[in-house]
Amino acid sequence: MIFVTGGAGYIGSHTVVELLNAGHEVTVFDNFCNSQPEVLRRVARITGKQANLVQGDLRDSAALLAALRASGAKAVIHFAGLKAVGESVQNPLAYYDNNVVGTVRLLETMNECGIKTLVFSSSATVYGDPQRLPLSEDHPLSTTNPYGQTKLVIEEMLRDLYRSDPAWRIGILRYFNPVGAHVSGLIGEDPLGTPNNLLPFVAQVAVGRREFLNVWGDDYATADGTGVRDYIHVVDLALGHLKALERLAHHAECRAINLGTGVGYSVLDMLRAFEQASGKRVPYQVGPRRSGDIAACYADPSQALALLGWRAERDLASMCADAWRWQSGNPNGYAQAT
Ligand code: UD1
Repeated sequence: MIFVTGGAGYIGSHTVVELLNAGHEVTVFDNFCNSQPEVLRRVARITGKQANLVQGDLRDSAALLAALRASGAKAVIHFAGLKAVGESVQNPLAYYDNNVVGTVRLLETMNECGIKTLVFSSSATVYGDPQRLPLSEDHPLSTTNPYGQTKLVIEEMLRDLYRSDPAWRIGILRYFNPVGAHVSGLIGEDPLGTPNNLLPFVAQVAVGRREFLNVWGDDYATADGTGVRDYIHVVDLALGHLKALERLAHHAECRAINLGTGVGYSVLDMLRAFEQASGKRVPYQVGPRRSGDIAACYADPSQALALLGWRAERDLASMCADAWRWQSGNPNGYAQAT
C-alpha cells in the first residue's frame, strides 16, 4: 500500500495510474485545492482499479494520522503542495504554510506510524540560475522565489531528518518540466485560471480558449533567442517514482535525483511541435522577458539511469500528441466532466 499526498493533482494522478497498473494498492490524500475528485474516477476507468480516497489537509494532523494509520501504507509519495511562482511572491506565507508546514506535519505523522520511506517531489528550480549545463545533482543550490525556497527548505529538512535517524529512506526527485498526458486522453493537466506554464497555455490557444501565446522574450543567448527547457513526458516522470520506490526498498539513504530527458527545447520548438501534433495553428506574439526567468535549463539525467535504471522514453511528438488528445477531448478540463 502506497500513501500518495496530492494524488489527485497532475503528476500525482499519473503516478497513481502507474502504481495501480503495477499492482500496488493506493490511498490518495488530497484537499482538492487545485484538483477535482473526478480525476480519481478517470484513474479508475483507465486502470480498472480503485484507489482509496481521503479528502484532507496535511496541516490537519489528526485527520492525517487517522488516514495514514488506516491505510496500512509502507511508503509515502508526497506531491501535495502549491506550485505557482508568481502567486508565491504575492502570498509567501501560504506557500510556507502549505508546503513547509504541511511537510513537517507529514514527517511527524509518518514517524508516529513508524513509516520511514518517502519519495518527495522537488524541482529543478532548486538549482537557481544555472552556473553550468547540463545540471547535475551536485550543482550548487539556490532559489529566486518563495515557491523555490519552500522546495529547498524541505530538501534540507529531509537531509537533516536522515542525519538524525538513518532508518529513513528518502528519495528526492528533482523534476524538470513535466508536460503531456496519459495516452488515453482521460487525465491531464487542468490548471485553474490562466496557465502559467508554457504547454498548457499553448494547448489552450490551439483549442480556441485563448487567442495567442505570449512568448516571454526572444533575446536570450539560445539558438532562436527563446527560453530552453527540458520537457519531460508526465508518464515517464510517473514511472520514475516507481523506480525510486524500488530503490528505497533496498537502500536506506537520502538522495536527490534529477528526472529529466537531458535535451532542451526552445519555446518556438515547442510551439511548432504542438502545431504539428494538433494540426492547429498557434499564433504568438513576442513580449518582454518574464521576471525571474532563466535562458536555459536542462538535466544531466545520468544518475537516474545509473541508480534507478530509469530513463525518459517518450519523445517530444508524443508529449504534444498526448497533451492534445487530453486538451481536445476535454477543452475545459475536468469542469464539464459527466
Ligand atoms: C516554471 C517555474 C518553476 C517551476 C516550473 C514548474 C518560473 C519562473 N519558473 O518553470 O519554478 O518549477 O514552472 O511549474 O515561473 N513561456 C512563454 N510564454 C508563456 C509561458 C511560458 O514564453 O505563456 C516560456 C518561459 O519564458 C520559459 C518556457 O516557456 O522559457 C517554459 O516556461 P514554464 O512552463 O513556465 O516553465 P519554467 O519557467 O521552466
